[in-house]
Amino acid sequence: MMQPKDRILVALDTPDVAKAQHLSRQLQGHVGGVKLGLEFFNANGHDGVRAVTHGDDDATPRGAATPNQPLFLDLKFHDIPNTVAGAIRSVTPLAPKIVNVHAGGGPAMMKAALQAAEFAAEPLGITRPMVIAVTVLTSMDDDDLSAVGQQGPTEEQVVRLAKLTQDCGLDGVVCSAREIAAIRKACGPDFKLIVPGIRPEWADKGDQKRTMTPREAVDAGADYIVIGRPITQANDPVAAAKAIAESLT
Ligand code: C5P
Repeated sequence: MMQPKDRILVALDTPDVAKAQHLSRQLQGHVGGVKLGLEFFNANGHDGVRAVTHGDDDATPRGAATPNQPLFLDLKFHDIPNTVAGAIRSVTPLAPKIVNVHAGGGPAMMKAALQAAEFAAEPLGITRPMVIAVTVLTSMDDDDLSAVGQQGPTEEQVVRLAKLTQDCGLDGVVCSAREIAAIRKACGPDFKLIVPGIRPEWADKGDQKRTMTPREAVDAGADYIVIGRPITQANDPVAAAKAIAESLT
């Protein structure tokens, strides 16, 4: 049974391994996992990720032991199917709980990603990572969409790509809070929605604009909420995570 805290994925947006490792250890058991993205991965690679999720020190053991801290590896792959399949195979030994690709890479690419995750996880004896897609980056507005030849309005394109993602057999999408309702309606109850742009009432909005509180997002249908600074920049990150989990009960 999923507990409220399991819905919280903490974005560790730093290239600093020691900082990320410290936060990850502190938060272990208080959240559902951590998110590491392009900045961290490109700076620190597999060893850096393992240091954060498996708690390994310099003498990094190989193999695919399940991490102490579940991992959303947010690398948003987008390339030809063969290359994306290879990238997924290359990260599967990190035993991520969630990996992602760009839906704009198309159906063959998404199916190849899913199949690669299945095939790579099986011989390692680990659970297949959830494979989810990014639909339209929330940094894009209708003008940006038309500049790259995609048909808006944005929300329609988001739903179109979410349905395509589901048709390809993938597990879900990353979406903004205000897209939850439309995607839930189009894709049904089992499609996983992972939602950033979340701010508890007590937290600074920072550069996030149309935010929802953790409670609002989960009530609207989010399966996982991605929260960075309200936890990572808090004086007491564990207390912040606990307060958020409490707000979800
Ligand atoms: O610190 P904060 O809670 O704003 O962090 C949110 C995380 O979610 C960051 O890693 C950010 O890159 C990511 N994200 C987002 N909005 C999106 C997609 C991803 O904030 N639409």
